[in-house]
Amino acid sequence: MNYKIPLYKPSISQKEILRVNECLRSTWISSKGRYIDNFEKLFSKYTKIKYSTVVVNGTAALHLALLALDIKSGDEVIVPTFTYVASVNAIKYVNAKPIFIDSDLNDWQLSINEIEKKITKKTKAIICPHIYGQMTNMTKLIKIKKKHKLFLIEDCAEALGSFFKSKHAGKYSDISTFSFYGSKTITTGEGGMLCSDNKSLITKAIKIKLQGISSKKLSYWHDVIGYNYKMTNICAAIGLSQLETIKKILQDKRKIFLYYKKHLENCPLKFQVENHNSINSFWLVGCLTTNKRTRDQLMKYLKMKKIETRPGFYPINTMPMYKNYNNKKFKISKQLSGRIICFPSYPNLTKKDLNFICGTIKKFFKK
Ligand SMILES: Cc1ncc(COP(=O)(O)O)c(C=O)c1O
Repeated sequence: MNYKIPLYKPSISQKEILRVNECLRSTWISSKGRYIDNFEKLFSKYTKIKYSTVVVNGTAALHLALLALDIKSGDEVIVPTFTYVASVNAIKYVNAKPIFIDSDLNDWQLSINEIEKKITKKTKAIICPHIYGQMTNMTKLIKIKKKHKLFLIEDCAEALGSFFKSKHAGKYSDISTFSFYGSKTITTGEGGMLCSDNKSLITKAIKIKLQGISSKKLSYWHDVIGYNYKMTNICAAIGLSQLETIKKILQDKRKIFLYYKKHLENCPLKFQVENHNSINSFWLVGCLTTNKRTRDQLMKYLKMKKIETRPGFYPINTMPMYKNYNNKKFKISKQLSGRIICFPSYPNLTKKDLNFICGTIKKFFKK
């Protein structure tokens, strides 16, 4: 479908083009080169997380995070069912068991009150994805993590530019992951970052990302089974250029959220809240409709007018490969899945585009 206004479009400037061309001309096109180093350094400077290492995508970052924490068969990992499938698949990659919990109807994040009910002797970690750029109450989450001596992984794929109590997403956990897919706040095409304040965790993850290479011998000696999860210098050149403009990207995204909120205030739509003490990056602007039927009809109507939207995630426990874990109905996740609609949210949206989208939504509700 050729949309007049897509859900997302990365903003690529002349800087990205010049740097990619420079990589090509200099032949530094593979996974070595100065842009990798520069991108990692700037990322750590921006997030204030000590160590950052680039990877091939956000899913690989999650896999490495679990491997670095030595999570394995017999271990349980608590994760919300309302998330992107990668947060859960990574748990299965290391043969551990995902233990699903429900989410909160207001902020759409994992329901903190449910975590302790699910902790057993086998529980090793919690994965906390910050859905659509909002963060949960990290003070409460850290309290539970410490009390039960669990690892915490923040899945920040959707949360670059999100803060809780002035600390950037990813700073609260043992290890955190980011995605730079084309529709993310900054992009490298495909790509990701793994971050931690813990040097030994990052050192272990880097070793696994580099095919399990040994530091004790000369090249080509590998003493564990690793993966090839490296990012290219070309991708890092794009990522660095994007990250240099993050402030402007985030300002534009906040303006877009405020525009929707103001112009749709009389429509029966409930916007995702921005929690107390937090800054939402507004990666995607999302609303709850009153019911699933209205959401589906609104999506259909907007599609007809060539405006792309996105529904909430399907709860992961309802998918075929996780059916065996479906021992409970997750009422809120089911509602979020059926009632959420996300509107176009890319920084280059013009006032004219926004006016057209809001006008079309208002027309739908007047029908
Ligand atoms: C919450 C969440 N986790 C993980 C990922 C995986 O990232 P990637 O697509 O870069 O593998 C995504 C990206 O789509 C995501 O939204």
